[in-house]
Amino acid sequence: MNHSLPTIWLKPAQFAAFTATGTTAHRIATNPDGWIERLGDDALVCFKNDATRDTLVNTLTPWITTAGWQPRRIFAKFLPRQNQDRIAPVLLSGDSTPSLTTTITEAGASYALDFAAGYSHGLFLDQRSNRTFLSRVSPKHVLNTFSYTCAFSVAAALAGAQTLSVDLSKKSLERGRENFALNQIDTSAHHRFIADDVLDVLPRLIHRGEKFDAIILDPPTFSRGNQGRRWQIEQHLEDLLSTAMELATPKAHILLSTNCTSLTIRDLETMARYCCKLHRRPVNFHRESQQTDFPPGHGATTLWLV
Ligand SMILES: C[S@@+](CC[C@H](N)C(=O)[O-])C[C@H]1O[C@@H](n2cnc3c(N)ncnc32)[C@H](O)[C@@H]1O
Repeated sequence: MNHSLPTIWLKPAQFAAFTATGTTAHRIATNPDGWIERLGDDALVCFKNDATRDTLVNTLTPWITTAGWQPRRIFAKFLPRQNQDRIAPVLLSGDSTPSLTTTITEAGASYALDFAAGYSHGLFLDQRSNRTFLSRVSPKHVLNTFSYTCAFSVAAALAGAQTLSVDLSKKSLERGRENFALNQIDTSAHHRFIADDVLDVLPRLIHRGEKFDAIILDPPTFSRGNQGRRWQIEQHLEDLLSTAMELATPKAHILLSTNCTSLTIRDLETMARYCCKLHRRPVNFHRESQQTDFPPGHGATTLWLV
């Protein structure tokens, strides 16, 4: 572990503030080699090496006493260097008999998580403030690309939007539908789900003349799409943004987001300026302030074009 940088813990008052606002999924602790998430009644320790896991688990106990919150179960997840080494979390302590699923709440929305679903449980905590911003904007038609379990779509739908969620993974979209159902949102009329490659879907939407007043672009760093087509964010994000702009209404809100550490906020701004010029759009940016549970430098790099 990098001993020069300490673990930053959520203060009891911050924990109480999350609880008071009905948000039950947030970070508890962060250090350079791992972090701990509160996920409803459970805790998840994410670690790059065994020493970090042990340190985080041991120091969680005094934090629990101070915060006055006892996790029902503690899971642990290894953070490998390579995507192919990713595995689902394992149960470290607590009762192994209940289901490995749980439900969390955030800003009046509920999301289902599944510790057995694979490496990711179903909700990216660092996008919480962007989900809230999207709800606040109250868009009418939202295009959520790389939608995963449709968390952005659910947040927008609860604020009255019609949504289109696109993801390669049928399973993730199925979980997305379950998230809509969990929030009593009827998906029969105003919410669409397309299980396909975003790069193939966008031209079809352009061809049909569809327009959206909010577009979410939060792609993975690397993936393989239809016909094994390689997606590499550093090479392809600018083209994706440019294509998405053809689907945007003049005053649309577009979220550009990445976890790729080689792309900085300046890179996103440069891409956005270039695409705005190309599409004759005014250059207006918005950035949500750093979430209180994520120390500076942690979490996705995100930029709204507004
Ligand atoms: C980082 S996650 C997106 C997280 C999501 N924005 C959220 O906030 O929950 C990336 C998602 O992109 C999907 N994906 C990867 N390549 C894709 C492609 N070419 N077309 C559509 N979806 C793709 C994956 O299946 C995965 O669900």
